[in-house]
Amino acid sequence: MPTTIQSLKACKEAGEKFAVITSYDATFSHVVASAGVEVILVGDSLGMVLQGHDSTLPVTMEQMIYHTEAVKRGNQGALIMADMPFMSYATPEQALENAALLMQAGAHLIKIEGGDWLCETISMLSERGIPVCAHLGLTPQSVNKLGGYKVQGRESADAEAMIAHAIAQEQAGADVILLECVPSDLAGRLTQSISAPVIGIGAGPGTDGQVLVLHDLLGITPGRRPKFVKNFMEGSDSVEGAIKAYIEAVKSGQFPAPEHTFS
Ligand code: KIV
Repeated sequence: MPTTIQSLKACKEAGEKFAVITSYDATFSHVVASAGVEVILVGDSLGMVLQGHDSTLPVTMEQMIYHTEAVKRGNQGALIMADMPFMSYATPEQALENAALLMQAGAHLIKIEGGDWLCETISMLSERGIPVCAHLGLTPQSVNKLGGYKVQGRESADAEAMIAHAIAQEQAGADVILLECVPSDLAGRLTQSISAPVIGIGAGPGTDGQVLVLHDLLGITPGRRPKFVKNFMEGSDSVEGAIKAYIEAVKSGQFPAPEHTFS
């Protein structure tokens, strides 16, 4: 059965974890979807992973459309979530125009980064039939405001604000929330505070789903590996085996382990 927003919500209600992996092309989309991943994220991380930039900021709408179309061609049953790139959703009207292009390219939902300032945009998209994932915590498109790729929400006021943002975004119509690099107890509390499914990366084991960048879980990303990443090629003898090991570890709750989480 293909994954839908409704089946992700059913997973949350049943307490079943689901797995998300980034993919940017048709071949890997075929491999990860055949392995049983529920959601493929066409992440703007492609700016760093494929293009070699030091941030996601240079990624354009045209590039996201190109990669979303390729992912759609290789996909078999996974829900395709496409990132809206930097400055493509600065106003609700601009967001609507650009989100429609990604949906026409093959996305089933779009992801945007930010807090409750996005509520008007979320309502506008949601009311017009475009499902939205709101990305909270470390929002890489704001790296220049944040001063680096750092854990977010460690101060109690920031943690409470993040939970309030997620509640407001769900009320505005967000179907999914994604949390990046936040302390695991905050991620667990936030996940319990809303009925929308929550996907985590560097957010501990308490979220409903987990996401990793494909190249990270295959251990081929050059340079320093973030704490929240596990190389699933270790102990696997094929790419398919590593992807299946990741999915199994997410579903069984073995990943992320304490060494992959922040406090
Ligand atoms: O672009 C991306 O791959 C992402 C993940 C890191 C969550 O947003």
